[in-house]
Amino acid sequence: MLDLVLRNATLPDGRVADLAFHEGALVHIGSAGNADEDIQCAGLLCIPAATDMHVHMRGGTQSAKEDWRTGTMAALAGGVTLVVDQPNTLPPLISKDRYLDRIREAQAGALCSFAVNGGVSPGVDPKPLWAAGALAFGEIFAAPSSYGDALTLEELRCALRAIHSLGALATIHCEEVLPGSPDTLLDHHTIRSPEGEVRSLQQIGSVIPTGMRPHICHISSAQSLAVAPGSKEVTPHHLFLSIEHFEEDDTFGRVNPPLRPESERRALFSSWDEIDLIASDHAPHTKEEKLVMFSDAPSGLPGVETMLPLLMNEVSKGTITLSSVIEKTAIAPCRVLGIPPAGFGTGERADFAFYAMDPEMIDPTNLHSRCGWTPYEGMMGVFPSLVISRGRVAYCDGEYSHEPGNWIPGRGYHPSELIE
Ligand code: DOR
Ligand code: ZN
Repeated sequence: MLDLVLRNATLPDGRVADLAFHEGALVHIGSAGNADEDIQCAGLLCIPAATDMHVHMRGGTQSAKEDWRTGTMAALAGGVTLVVDQPNTLPPLISKDRYLDRIREAQAGALCSFAVNGGVSPGVDPKPLWAAGALAFGEIFAAPSSYGDALTLEELRCALRAIHSLGALATIHCEEVLPGSPDTLLDHHTIRSPEGEVRSLQQIGSVIPTGMRPHICHISSAQSLAVAPGSKEVTPHHLFLSIEHFEEDDTFGRVNPPLRPESERRALFSSWDEIDLIASDHAPHTKEEKLVMFSDAPSGLPGVETMLPLLMNEVSKGTITLSSVIEKTAIAPCRVLGIPPAGFGTGERADFAFYAMDPEMIDPTNLHSRCGWTPYEGMMGVFPSLVISRGRVAYCDGEYSHEPGNWIPGRGYHPSELIE
C-alpha cells in the first residue's frame, strides 16, 4: 500500500501525472493505485522544493527575532524544505559543544530539513566542527556585519587553507567598508559600495588555495558577478528592492551588502543567466530593533518565505523561465553543497511545492517569521498551497503537519570522534 498519492499534478514539463510516495520516497510517476492518503492536485503545478543555503534562523539568545519553529514554518509556507543555517549566532558557533547544542535546538524546533554551517574565527581549527556535522563553513566575514567580525586577509588565507584541507566548502561574505556611520540608505550604499565589493572579491581571489572553489554569498551588483571567484549567490532583496523603494532613512531597508540604486538593481536582474543560485539571507530583526536611528539600526531583512513566491510571480509574468527558477533554487544550491537535490529522479529528495499560480499581494499578517514584518509588503507573490517534505505532507492550505525536521550533516560527520 502506498503512503500518499498526489493526483493529476502538472509537472514542470507540462505532463499531468499522479505522484506516488512510499516510506518517504517518490516511487512512481504516472497513474497510481490506492494510498493511505490521497490528495487531488488537478490544476496545481508541482516543482522540486527549494533549498535556501543562506538563512539566519536565530533561536537561542536571539529567539525574540526568530527561532527554529517560526523560521521553518516560514520556510515551508514559502516552498523551502531545506534551510542551511549560518553560524553568526550569539555566541558564535565555533566550538564542537556549541555546534551540538545548536543541532539539538534545531531538532527540537525545526519543521523542515535543516543543515548548520560551522563558524570561522581566526586561529580556530575547523576540524572538530567538520566532525560534528558542519555542512560547510561560514559565511566567513571578509567585512564586518551584524553579529559577524571581519577576518583580515591573512586570517582568511589561513582559514581557507584549513577548510580546503578538509575538502569542505567555504562560503564568504565579501564587502569593503569605508569609515563613517550611515544616516541614510544612500550613505550605507556609498560606505559599502559596489566598487568596494569588486575590490574585496579580487582580494579574496588572491588568497584562495589552488584547487579550491569557494561560494560567494549575496553578490549585490552586476559588476561583482563578473569578477567573483567560485559559485555566485544573489538574494531576492538585491533582485527586487532598491534604495528608491524606501524612504531615504528607512531602517527596514538596511542590509549588508546594502540595497543599490534602481538602475543597479535592474542591471543585476538583467544578469539573471550569470547568477548560479538564489538564497534569501533571511536575517530577521524585531520591529523594535529596527525602529531606531538609521545609524544605530541592525542590518538584515527576513526573506525565506517570500524568496520563491517572488520568483514564481516573475515566472507567471513570463520574465524568467520556470526551469531557471528550479535550477537556481532547488538544484544548484545542492550541487554546491554536495547533497542530493529535491527532484523527481531516483536518489533525489522527495520534496515538492505545488502552485495554483495565483499571484497575491504580500501581506505580513499572512507570513510566519516571528519578526512580523516584510520589506516586500504590497508586492506580488505566488505562494504554494501544498508542500511535501520527505514524501509526506508538511504544509497544506496554511496548516502544518508538525513532523520534526531532518538534520543533514556534512560529509565530515564522524560521531565517534565526538566522544572525548
Ligand atoms: O544584513 C545582514 N544581516 N548581513 C549579514 O551578513 C548578517 C545578517 C544578520 O545576521 O543579521
Ligand atoms: Zn547572512
